[in-house]
Amino acid sequence: MKFLCAIVLLVVAIAFAAAGDLEDELNWQSYKAKFHKRHRSKDEARRKANFIKRQKQIEKHNKENKEWEMGNNLFSDMTDEERKGMLGAKPVPRKERFLNPGYPIEERALPISIDYRSDKCMQPVKQQAECGSCWSFAAVVPLEFNTCKKTGTPVALSEQMLVDCDTYNYACEGGDYTNAWKFIKEKGGIMINSSYPYVSGTTLTRGTCKFSSTSVAARVSTYGWTMPYPNATVSMQYLQSYGPLPSAMKVLDSLYQYKNGVYSDSACIIADENQVDHAVVIVGYGTTTTTPAIPYWIVRNSWGTTWGNLGYMAIKRGVNMCNIESWTAYVEVV
Ligand SMILES: *[C@@H]1O[C@H](CO)[C@@H](O)[C@H](O)[C@H]1NC(C)=O
Ligand SMILES: *[C@@H]1O[C@H](CO)[C@@H](O)[C@H](O)[C@H]1NC(C)=O
Repeated sequence: MKFLCAIVLLVVAIAFAAAGDLEDELNWQSYKAKFHKRHRSKDEARRKANFIKRQKQIEKHNKENKEWEMGNNLFSDMTDEERKGMLGAKPVPRKERFLNPGYPIEERALPISIDYRSDKCMQPVKQQAECGSCWSFAAVVPLEFNTCKKTGTPVALSEQMLVDCDTYNYACEGGDYTNAWKFIKEKGGIMINSSYPYVSGTTLTRGTCKFSSTSVAARVSTYGWTMPYPNATVSMQYLQSYGPLPSAMKVLDSLYQYKNGVYSDSACIIADENQVDHAVVIVGYGTTTTTPAIPYWIVRNSWGTTWGNLGYMAIKRGVNMCNIESWTAYVEVV
């Protein structure tokens, strides 16, 4: 009898394990189909193991955390190294920042919320791919937006030109958006995307600058860091007056699988403001209608539209989460 029980238990255990394996396999297959993932057969097992690990992380997080949600996206089957390859902020040191302080901002009444996402001057969310060129994407957003505000016509500008030509920055090895504006100002402008489309992440283009002044579609006049910082109110005022504000942040493991809600991570409250590794763009702010109400920033990323909420995220505002309130900068166009 005892023996029989043991056998029954064993059979049940095997059946459960097999069901778990089957479920993992089905999830893996549907993930690959949904995100158009194709792997060489020698990579398949490793990719699947990454995916299953992240799947467990997502399920656990969504059970425990009600403020923000995780989900599958392009990162689910990537290695840690590959994910790091999609960062790329190398911000300038603090003392150099004081060489380029912003104008003191005129204090105006702030609206309850700002959201530039659906503005006709905002281009669709882009994808930097496996290249540390976030700085280039962050530099381009306010140039597109502010140029369109002046001319009335939406314009897509060339991140690739900055990756290939900008000698103040480091192509796919990282950079700083204010250095990019400095470069553009000296060069006489930035080209239109259609004349110099993005290929980094798939092709090495280092040292292949193909600048052509006839395709320039935007020019930099002035730029600077928001001052004083970190100060959420000051950043909100610059956002209201100058449009989208690039900033830099620390990316923790939890951010890669972000899907929706107001992101926060107690490990991302960091005393050292120089702890940042990714450039993004603040494009709005608001406050949730939950109790308690949570103030947030609306942040645009350059990880495509399958990451986060159609490429955007909300992150807790007023606490310098991930140092995002220490690095806001603004630019004006000619
Ligand atoms: C940039 O140009 C390329 C090539 O013409 C095009 O495929 C891509 O969609 C453009 N991107 C934007 C944001 O307009
Ligand atoms: C932030 O700036 C505002 C407006 O200039 C000021 O009133 C406030 O005291 C500042 N807050 C901090 C924490 O420095």
